[in-house]
Amino acid sequence: MANSLYDFGMIGLGVMGRNLLLNMADHGFSVIGFDKDATKNSALETAATPGTTVKGVAELATMVQLLERPRKLMMLVPAGQPVDDVIASLLPLLEQGDVVIDGGNSHYTDTLRRVQQLREKGIHFMGMGVSGGEQGARTGPSIMPGGDLDAYAKVKPMLEAIAAKVKDTPCVAYLGKEGAGHYVKMVHNGIEYAIMQLISESYALLQKGAGLNNDQLHEVFKSWNQGALQSFLVEITADIFLQNDDKSDKRLVDVISDKAGSKGTGKWTSQDAMELPVAVPVIDTAVAMRTISGYKDQRVQAEALYPATDSTIHATSEMWIKQVHDALYFTTILSYAQGLAMLHEASRDLQMEIPLPEVVKVWRGGCIIRSTLLEVFTQAYQQNTDLANILLDKGVAYLVQSVESNTRSVIAQAVAAGIPVAGLMSALSYFDAFRTGRMPTNLIQAQRDYFGAHTYQRVDIPGTFHTEWQQH
Ligand code: 6PG
Repeated sequence: MANSLYDFGMIGLGVMGRNLLLNMADHGFSVIGFDKDATKNSALETAATPGTTVKGVAELATMVQLLERPRKLMMLVPAGQPVDDVIASLLPLLEQGDVVIDGGNSHYTDTLRRVQQLREKGIHFMGMGVSGGEQGARTGPSIMPGGDLDAYAKVKPMLEAIAAKVKDTPCVAYLGKEGAGHYVKMVHNGIEYAIMQLISESYALLQKGAGLNNDQLHEVFKSWNQGALQSFLVEITADIFLQNDDKSDKRLVDVISDKAGSKGTGKWTSQDAMELPVAVPVIDTAVAMRTISGYKDQRVQAEALYPATDSTIHATSEMWIKQVHDALYFTTILSYAQGLAMLHEASRDLQMEIPLPEVVKVWRGGCIIRSTLLEVFTQAYQQNTDLANILLDKGVAYLVQSVESNTRSVIAQAVAAGIPVAGLMSALSYFDAFRTGRMPTNLIQAQRDYFGAHTYQRVDIPGTFHTEWQQH
């Protein structure tokens, strides 16, 4: 009967689960999905490519029985309690050696706990980040698995088959121990938040500062996507400006509320960065700006109380577009730098053994933060696999320096014009602090010792010191 068993099972047939499963089927694997909602099971079968082996069932036990041993199955359900609920229902049905993958955006500490819980039963639990949205899941996502290496070996051929490809290399690799897959995906999302914030600031600079209309904004982002800023997020931004609203005669972007939502992975990145600690101020700022976007009523009141100054930028459009391009390029590099530095630190601190050269390769295709810059970082890690911060790579330094002056100019003019550019500013401030051999934090140490006897170290003599500071 072995040939009637299925290669892979999926729990949760929302659009992501369904599309991933169909992607697997398109690559020759026989797949079975379970969802309590029978309409989703039939939707799965209906959407299957003719000739592929795809089945949807409404009983979890049926699906588990119909899987080839050791079983390989994934859940794509909302993070949190639903994952624990699925595990509780699965446990009595599984056997030693089975591999269970959580492909959702779970917090890595939950994944760690679940890895240990299932290990006691001899079952492999893997946390796996999947990026690329609905379309990516169907045609080739970026996949970030972590956990047990033996378990990864069992699912590797399937994951490699369905992943996005860059120059024939699949955008999937083993990314470290225990909760590493979900950790990498969390940081991916933190970088995603940062770059989206920077693009939205660039939009304001072009629209408010230089008066560009939607057609012109489309042209600018489209041309940027053909150069050094080529990326998925810049590409979709160009599209967005052309979308007409079907409920009015306006462009859709102009009738969308400015309150930005979030599901929490950006916030987690900031929280976990502070926990380490590692500095990711562009990500922190991006999270904060989404929060400020929610203060709609207060912002409208404040707008009347503090009328805006003239936000016109005094430069030719052509020059301004070039400068904003450079500022976005500079700060995008800084966003990756902060996220990757966080992974470097977390990998050591949490003993996850995250291979950064693999992470940047996996991010080159399929995911939301894919961009040509990832090729630059791939080369940087080829030079030094243990690079603590990509800003220390000479190739990256050359790129950063080539746009530094325009970045400063854009920020200076934005500040004078009262256009909020918190993301750009925090990226530049991080850069300026990072390239400062001696920061003014010696004064903070003196103050701490003055009021709290917290002690300090000297630059000339080893040891720990305290001074009875004099009042003058
Ligand atoms: C991806 C995305 C995805 C994420 C959404 C929503 O890589 O495909 O990161 O996983 O859930 O982008 O994130 P927010 O709702 O928090 O903006």
